[in-house]
Amino acid sequence: MRFAERLNLEHPVVQAGMGGGVAGGALAGAVSAAGGLGTVGIMGPDAFLGALHEARRLAPGRPVAANLLVPFVRSAHVAACAEARADVVVLHGGAAPALVRALHAAGLFVLDTVGTVAEARRALADGADGLVVQGLEAGGHLVGVQDTPGALAAVRAAIGDEVPVLAAGGVADAVVVQRLLDLGADAAAAGTRFLLTAESGAHPAYRDRVLGAKRTLDTLLFSTGWPMRHRVVPNAATDRWCATDERGPAWLRAVTARTGPVGRALPIAHLERFLGVQRPGLPVFTPALPLVGMDAAVVDRAALYAGESALRMTGVVSAADAVAALTP
Ligand SMILES: Cc1cc2nc3c(=O)[nH]c(=O)nc-3n(C[C@H](O)[C@H](O)[C@H](O)COP(=O)(O)O)c2cc1C
Repeated sequence: MRFAERLNLEHPVVQAGMGGGVAGGALAGAVSAAGGLGTVGIMGPDAFLGALHEARRLAPGRPVAANLLVPFVRSAHVAACAEARADVVVLHGGAAPALVRALHAAGLFVLDTVGTVAEARRALADGADGLVVQGLEAGGHLVGVQDTPGALAAVRAAIGDEVPVLAAGGVADAVVVQRLLDLGADAAAAGTRFLLTAESGAHPAYRDRVLGAKRTLDTLLFSTGWPMRHRVVPNAATDRWCATDERGPAWLRAVTARTGPVGRALPIAHLERFLGVQRPGLPVFTPALPLVGMDAAVVDRAALYAGESALRMTGVVSAADAVAALTP
């Protein structure tokens, strides 16, 4: 049975998981209620469970997904997915065969995010039930190394037609969604489009920067605690440290490359506390992002994750309107 049919989706539109509070219960619930698939992003386990319940309450009888960033997962996150009976759990951030086994043991359906054919084969060998193929254009943390249509076509050709595959990266409108469906995607996942909705937890000043952006950067600047490529729009921190190399200074990359164990040891809910000490001029940048309620000045010292699709966005809309705009 195809993915959309299995989940009883009205539209082949998925709101990608966005962690740290951007994609909470209000956003995921609104997307699912509008006939797409809403996804609650990772946060501390109690808040995560609460957000999953909120999404269920807002979208009764509709499917709801949960997103787990592999380096930050605790057993309580798995328990939350099970308790809320998430219809899909999307993993991102690396190989996790033991996590896939734990999610399967809880009866959950698991997709893993990949950027290449080699990663697709690895994810399926890890036991994933399906894939999210992420292209280079995507916002946030990147496994994508090739444009979304190219990566999707390559993965589909390698793994055949049976495995459920979503495509993420550059999903700005219904024309892009249709193109990805034509290339074999079961549905298209968008992050930036849903970041720019009334229901997202992103700080309004962050959304303004995304709307005003003229370019994006594929960087490693905000890697303290999680050294993985990520796509952002510019701010004072990237202006200061990425002027000659968008990845950030080589010496800083060498330092942050060693900080993964520190990030994994910390509960994810603690990450945002570091934003209080981050400064554009001080090269210690964590992956935490600006949320509603924070001091607006944080937009110049925190990661402003967004994809290339940001350059095509013209305003903040409701989540339901975003689903409608992406539906072919
Ligand atoms: C603000 C933001 C936060 C993100 N956080 C996560 C995350 O926590 N987990 C994840 O799997 N992907 C995350 N992503 C990546 C998305 O899953 C998706 O691959 C990406 O948004 C697709 O590109 P688009 O932004 O052009 O639609 C994030 C993306 C953005 C823009």
